Amino acid sequence: MRKKIVVGNWKMNKTVAEAGELASAILEQLGDGIVGCEVGIAPAFPALTEVGKVIERSDIRLVAQNCHYEDDGAYTGEVSVRMLESLRCACVIIGHSERRQYFGETDHTVNLKVRKALAEGMQVIMCVGETLEEREGGVTDRIVTGQVREGLKEVSDLGGVVLAYEPVWAIGTGKTATPEQAEEVHASIRATIIDMYGELTAGHLRIQYGGSVKPSNAAELFAMPNIDGGLIGGASLKADDFVAIVRAAG
Ligand code: 13P
Repeated sequence: MRKKIVVGNWKMNKTVAEAGELASAILEQLGDGIVGCEVGIAPAFPALTEVGKVIERSDIRLVAQNCHYEDDGAYTGEVSVRMLESLRCACVIIGHSERRQYFGETDHTVNLKVRKALAEGMQVIMCVGETLEEREGGVTDRIVTGQVREGLKEVSDLGGVVLAYEPVWAIGTGKTATPEQAEEVHASIRATIIDMYGELTAGHLRIQYGGSVKPSNAAELFAMPNIDGGLIGGASLKADDFVAIVRAAG
């Protein structure tokens, strides 16, 4: 049985003070009621320290939204995995579609980042997903499978990896993939992982769904056999909604 994992991706929202308040509200509402599922929150870089302090004694994990693949050097504006570790970040989101779309990330840079994070012992959430054009063109499977294979190139151990399937057309649009649409892609991702790593590893790998997950649709998505939790954007910015989604997974 795979333990579900729900992570709030706060994207470029919340000042340091606001982030601290939101983390406190989530912590208060969750109490110690998160036994059934793994929970993480991913504030923007400036708020990592503050949020880390708030959740220090809880089971909530501190997650970063991005990292660089070098340890240090002349990379203005970038943050290394070691820097994240020094803030006690346990996990990093890599290859989010917004990074691919607006900041030129490719399967190759995603792969470099995944390998660096894993080498440093950090958990990785690697995101994949097709655009509306690709879905309508009938190439969803080819695109997503390609992203999985390229992103995991030369990764021999999937122990520290979680995958997130986020159809680009469902992100921030209010259009959620139906549970059946999402399940179809999740099953195909797992089949790719079986092909690459075998049944046992694939059976343990968690695949989150992301894209307009809300309290009203979370339970039916999480009930699908290959959906192992969610990567939550907009709804994670409201403590009530995020906690309701966590409860739907737990
Ligand atoms: P929304 O939940 O706002 O659609 O965002 C999903 C997402 O991109 C999480 O990483």
